[in-house]
Amino acid sequence: RTPPLDDTFGRTHTYLRISLTERCNLRCRYCMPADGVALTPPASTLTTPEITRLASLFVGAGVTKIRLTGGEPLVRPDVVAVVAGLAALPGLTSLGMTTNGLTLGRHLPALRSAGLTALNVSLDTLVPARFELITRRRGQGRVLDAMDAALAAGFASVKLNVVVMRGVNEDEVGDFVGLTRDRPLDVRFIEYMPFGGNAWSDARFVPYAEMLGAIAERTGALERVVDDPHDTCKHYRVPGHAGRIGFISSMTNHFCGGCNRLRLTADGALKVCLFGSEEVSLRDVMRGGGTDEELAATVRAAVRRKHYSLGGKKDRHELARSDNRPMITIGG
Ligand code: GTP
Ligand code: 5AD
Ligand code: SF4
Ligand code: SF4
Repeated sequence: RTPPLDDTFGRTHTYLRISLTERCNLRCRYCMPADGVALTPPASTLTTPEITRLASLFVGAGVTKIRLTGGEPLVRPDVVAVVAGLAALPGLTSLGMTTNGLTLGRHLPALRSAGLTALNVSLDTLVPARFELITRRRGQGRVLDAMDAALAAGFASVKLNVVVMRGVNEDEVGDFVGLTRDRPLDVRFIEYMPFGGNAWSDARFVPYAEMLGAIAERTGALERVVDDPHDTCKHYRVPGHAGRIGFISSMTNHFCGGCNRLRLTADGALKVCLFGSEEVSLRDVMRGGGTDEELAATVRAAVRRKHYSLGGKKDRHELARSDNRPMITIGG
């Protein structure tokens, strides 16, 4: 066992997000440009043995939680084999996936038996016509059904992610809160973030304080729930509801002080911060014949260069002007 992955701000990295593919079966306006993104050629994306090797190295260095992302992770043909391979790593206590839910229904049994423990489903509207507008595809009903099927299938945790955008879905926040009445579900409202090539504008941006105010006006006083120190989310409960609601306030109240996250992109780059444009290709080290020790040293050096907050940017305006990958090639 090697020493923990610490940065220069005293943060220990125990959570790895792995993007399994840049592909997606939706085309969300807030995630990718209308004309799509140039995809990495298949030969330059990580193979399943490469993913397992890198993940095993991270787990050896103290990572206990892995979340699989995309694009849409379920479009990777061997996704169940990837899950099974990672679930077998000794030391891993949580193996999650963030999915758009479109094909989740038919994958649920296989994912569960392969060892997946946690599911985050993205759904930004309960109105089918709006779903088409946001995602440029159909399927809203299927996503909602898959979320309910996931709750019934016995996963340790099921969360729903809602990116809130002014003039698009901010009027639905109350309806989403309603989903938590009878379901043991976390509904999380996310502040809209700027990324390379997305349609972010300050006019579309809704600060979390405003969402919280709108909800409390409707439901009365909310109970504040104690968060995990590494959580992205400030949790609340409507008194009497089975589930919880929460706010991911990356833009107006960041949670970088408790950050324990690292990211591995589908093309094998280590991103030490969601908003940092600095990357190092672990794929190139690996394909150049690098040993596990060399890979670990590369990771450690990159983690020590990590900025404290927002990838070194001062606020959402500076972020909006900065260079970053399109979200679809990061995985959130
Ligand atoms: P858990 O693993 O269940 O805690 O979920 P998560 O919130 O970490 O991940 P998820 O993939 O569900 O992402 C929900 C939202 O949080 C997305 O908008 C992500 O972009 C955002 N997010 C996830 N990790 C980070 C992070 O490290 N920093 C920031 N600023 N946002 C993050
Ligand atoms: N701002 C906030 N959240 C985003 N996501 C994708 N793009 C953005 C953005 N620009 C969310 C997705 C998914 C998670 C991985 O990130 O909705 O739930
Ligand atoms: Fe696909 Fe998720 Fe991006 Fe939508 S937000 S295009 S579902 S990766
Ligand atoms: Fe961590 Fe960067 Fe996200 Fe802050 S913005 S929580 S430092 S990944």
